[in-house]
Amino acid sequence: MRTPRLVERVHADLRRHLRAGDLAVDATLGNGHDAACLVQCVGPTGRVWGFDVQERALSATRERLGDVPGFAAVQADHARMDEHLPKDVRGRLRAVVFNLGWLPGGDHTLTTRTASTLAAVEVALAWLAPDGVLSCLAYRGHPGGQQEARAVDARLAASAGRLTRVAPEGTREPAPLWLWFERSRDHPPR
Ligand SMILES: C[S@@+](CC[C@H](N)C(=O)[O-])C[C@H]1O[C@@H](n2cnc3c(N)ncnc32)[C@H](O)[C@@H]1O
Repeated sequence: MRTPRLVERVHADLRRHLRAGDLAVDATLGNGHDAACLVQCVGPTGRVWGFDVQERALSATRERLGDVPGFAAVQADHARMDEHLPKDVRGRLRAVVFNLGWLPGGDHTLTTRTASTLAAVEVALAWLAPDGVLSCLAYRGHPGGQQEARAVDARLAASAGRLTRVAPEGTREPAPLWLWFERSRDHPPR
C-alpha cells in the first residue's frame, strides 16, 4: 500500500476537523491545493480567506478553484492578515493553514521567512477559535527553512493546546516537518 504524502495527511485531518459553515484561512495560497481542500470542507455556507504575496499564486489559485462563493484571495503579507479579515472573525477561525517554502513551479528565491511567518502565526493564534487548529507544513530546503520551522515549533509549543509533530523519513533532505496545533483549554501553555 502506498504511504500517503504528508500533504494528503494534512488534508485528511482538516476534513476530519472542519465542518460546513466554518471559517478558515490559508496563509500561503501557492497553487491553491490547500485552499481547495478548505473550500470543500466548509462548503457554500462557510468562508475561506487566502493570502499570498505573489500575484502568480493568486492566479494559480483562481484557476484551480474557479469562482467559489465564500472564498476571497488577498495579495498581502500574511503577517498583516488581521488588516484584511473582517473584525468579527477574530476568535472564530476553526483552521489556519500554513505551507512554508517556495511556490512550486515558481521562483525558488521567493520563500516564506522566519520573521513574517512568526508574525503571521501570532496573528493566527490571536484569531483562532477556542477549538481551532493551526496546521503548518514546513518544507525546510530553502535557506533559513530549518530555523523557520524550529521557530514556529517553539512558538506553538509555548501556546495553550496540543502540538503534534510529524517528520517522516524521506529521500528528500531535510524532510518536511508537519506541525498540527489544536487549541484547547485543557492544555495550558508550558
Ligand atoms: C509552499 S508554497 C504554498 C503552497 C500552497 N499552500 C498550495 O497548496 O499549493 C508557499 C507560498 O507562500 C508564499 N509566501 C511567501 N511569503 C509570504 C508572506 N509573507 N505572506 C503570504 N504568503 C507568502 C509564497 O509566495 C508561496 O506561494
